[in-house]
Amino acid sequence: MLGETEAGSRARARLRESRAARRLRRMAKRVFLSEPAQRINDLVEGLRQRAALRHWQKTGRSLPPPHVVKQRTVRAYAGRFALSTLVETGTYLGAMIKATRDTFARVYSIELDPQLYERARKRFAEPGRVSILHGDSGEVLPRLLADLREPCLFWLDAHHSGMVTARGRLESPVMQELRAILDHPLEGHVVLIDDAQAFVGRGGYPTIAELRAVVAIRRPDWVCEVEEGIIRLHARPRPT
Ligand SMILES: C[S@@+](CC[C@H](N)C(=O)[O-])C[C@H]1O[C@@H](n2cnc3c(N)ncnc32)[C@H](O)[C@@H]1O
Repeated sequence: MLGETEAGSRARARLRESRAARRLRRMAKRVFLSEPAQRINDLVEGLRQRAALRHWQKTGRSLPPPHVVKQRTVRAYAGRFALSTLVETGTYLGAMIKATRDTFARVYSIELDPQLYERARKRFAEPGRVSILHGDSGEVLPRLLADLREPCLFWLDAHHSGMVTARGRLESPVMQELRAILDHPLEGHVVLIDDAQAFVGRGGYPTIAELRAVVAIRRPDWVCEVEEGIIRLHARPRPT
């Protein structure tokens, strides 16, 4: 058995280590989110996405697809269902806002991390057009829904993804978000959920079968399709 002092000194060393790790993470985040770093990121992002798309197409379209495929999907569903409001959960650096804000008349995006929120607010907020909201989307989205008066396209993408991103009570608040949308009285919402491959029944993610069951109870007239790693929920198209 370790003596009191040896055990104590090990515990103190671990604490020092975790403090140092936290300090290092904070520093890395400051550098990553600094203006110069983000300007470089903006410059290379287009090239990086084009290369990622070519690679993805050539190598059997494995999951997850590059972000440009997700952007295309969001724009395509906006057109197909004539939706002019986008509600995004999980803003991160605002890549989805940037890629789709001209497609929508109104954009809302919710971010839990205070620094990512502040950065996106400064960068993208436009009164009456683009609103960046701060908080856990499992709690903020139901409040936002209470004010929405027209069908929306939801891009549900809030989750912890390491590095500079936040973690709420759960790794993903998707079930809280989804229940709020399914219970909303308006008809015509369309829900796209990213990262279908994460739906394995852990960390707040249901399995795809559990998700289908929740949708079927609340919206029996909806379909649930999974393609290119994106879960797609909407009313079944009427036969023509
Ligand atoms: C994958 S990124 C979002 C990417 C973005 N939607 C896009 O398409 O460009 C996930 C983001 O969700 C945020 N996040 C994590 N948990 C959250 C929560 N409970 N509520 C709101 N945002 C959350 C993270 O901080 C991170 O910025």
